[in-house]
Amino acid sequence: MCGIVGYVGGRQAAPILLDGLKRLEYRGYDSAGIAIHNCRHTNLIKAEGKIKVLEEKLGGAYPEGCAGIGHTRWATHGRPSDVNAHPHTDCTGDFMVVHNGIIENYQELKEWLQSKGHVFKSETDTEVIPHMIEHFYDGDLLEALKKTISRLEGSFALGVISRREPGTIAAARKSSPLIAGLGEGENFIASDIPAILQHTRKVYILEDGEMVKITKDSVEVYDFLGTPVAKSVFEVKWDAVAAERGGYPHFMLKEIHEQPRAFKDTMAGRIFPEKGEIRLDDVHLGKDYLQNLKKIFIVACGTAYHAGMVGKYIIEKLTRIPVEVDIASEFRYRNPMIDKDMLVIIISQSGETADTLAALRESRKQGARVLAVTNVVGSSVSREADDIIYTWAGPEIAVASTKAYSTQLIALDMIALYIARILGTMPDEDAKDIIAAMKKLPDQAKTLLESEDRLKAIGQKISGHQDVFYIGRGLDYPLSLEGALKLKEISYIHAEAYAAGELKHGTLALIEEGVPVIAPVTQEHLFEKTLSNIKEVKAREGYVIAIANDGNEEIKKSVDDVIYIPKTHPILSPVLTVIPMQLLAYYAAVARGCDVDKPRNLAKSVTVE
Ligand code: M6R
Repeated sequence: MCGIVGYVGGRQAAPILLDGLKRLEYRGYDSAGIAIHNCRHTNLIKAEGKIKVLEEKLGGAYPEGCAGIGHTRWATHGRPSDVNAHPHTDCTGDFMVVHNGIIENYQELKEWLQSKGHVFKSETDTEVIPHMIEHFYDGDLLEALKKTISRLEGSFALGVISRREPGTIAAARKSSPLIAGLGEGENFIASDIPAILQHTRKVYILEDGEMVKITKDSVEVYDFLGTPVAKSVFEVKWDAVAAERGGYPHFMLKEIHEQPRAFKDTMAGRIFPEKGEIRLDDVHLGKDYLQNLKKIFIVACGTAYHAGMVGKYIIEKLTRIPVEVDIASEFRYRNPMIDKDMLVIIISQSGETADTLAALRESRKQGARVLAVTNVVGSSVSREADDIIYTWAGPEIAVASTKAYSTQLIALDMIALYIARILGTMPDEDAKDIIAAMKKLPDQAKTLLESEDRLKAIGQKISGHQDVFYIGRGLDYPLSLEGALKLKEISYIHAEAYAAGELKHGTLALIEEGVPVIAPVTQEHLFEKTLSNIKEVKAREGYVIAIANDGNEEIKKSVDDVIYIPKTHPILSPVLTVIPMQLLAYYAAVARGCDVDKPRNLAKSVTVE
């Protein structure tokens, strides 16, 4: 996600902030900015593009001042631009704010502030914060921040400076990382340790619900009610490279662990369980258009294509509109029969995959409307589509896609529900049940990640094999395709996925003693059928690892290992089931000594045919 760094002390702030931001560059960003205080005024400099562009704008002269905040932005609300870059200010220019996260109720807050005469400059959700601080400020910056955050819904790590209180930074954290760095006659805030590691190894790791006020000589931590909190100092032992990965040995593992946060962000401000409602700000599919829709195509590559296959099952089930899923490199050359009464859903994490982009252009040329699901604001796909849903997974650095895939599934769930609600193809109560179950996914994912040690042991067991098979029925089938892709791309073990009912039509010939077969059985209405297929494998002495819903005791009798996942609504289970699959692949690859984050022959973004 975005990066934050803040400094107060005896040195010039600008070079410290710019250096700190550069150390966060590996995370990806689209614009950057700094605000520097000196005794008389605040300098605010922002630029779209790399930090280099920001430095060019400074023209070699750093603004003077010993306090400031800086930010690298990864756009969510509002395209990358100078104006949308952080820090953001209020009407007077007295308050400067940097923010990571998403403010879910910003629309409502913006209308309230506008009714009081506040004027907004950017398209961001963040800008409501400096205006609220201006509104609440009564001589105490931390107090104004406290009042502001009590009205914010969503996630945030915030840093604020004000020329009314020079030499102070106020900061707060809810569901987005933030630390305070402790120096000698100087102190820091940062979203990530690498930003300040060259200055101090002593930090306070702020917890959700904590605020901090820093000056050059003091660091005071409070809860959101203003009660002081005693913190213990965390001594950072990592080197700079380990610090970039947040202490994880690989980006892939870090990104697997970021999924609870990514789920929450992707659903933020979009799902409303009480009303059974889905709101998608950048999607404008009217009832008339949807009623005349003859077909939906979903087009993508690789992991995104696998997400699309799950999407087909869910969209058809909830909306009763036929869905065809295509691999982008095939779609673009097969002269697909598309017209204006068809919707094409394009899925692409990067938004730059050459084949996917060509499929988008071909669809539009033939008159279809295009809805894009992408993780990158301002990407080619996002610019050229008619409607967009961003997966707010944050930058994905490992080549193997993990959090992008699971958030694509959530986006597809939301599309299916959105269409079904407009067309009235599902009862209110069913929609409410599914949306309530969606709300629980982040916590359930967290629980699942706690069973990592077991998955490590099973991953190590399969690491010595040449071939691994995945079988599943219903939604467990497209999910199996993704599980197999994950294993082969990072561990180089040959892995194949089959619809469980297909096994006996050929592939069963390959099953012999000890061959691992991974069998998700999360779709209860299909359980008995898949169980029969598992028994066919067991009869040939295959080694079966099932992934089952919590409480399914019966499966234990027929398999060698069971991984349990928290129970959710059946259409949502792929979002959780993929997590153990990702971890199995990860630990198998680590056991084989593979370069997990940069697998051989692969690139993160495939911009050639
Ligand atoms: O950026 P995209 O989602 O368009 O990328 C599509 C595929 O190249 C990508 O999903 C690829 O399959 C990943 N390496 C899978 O982990």
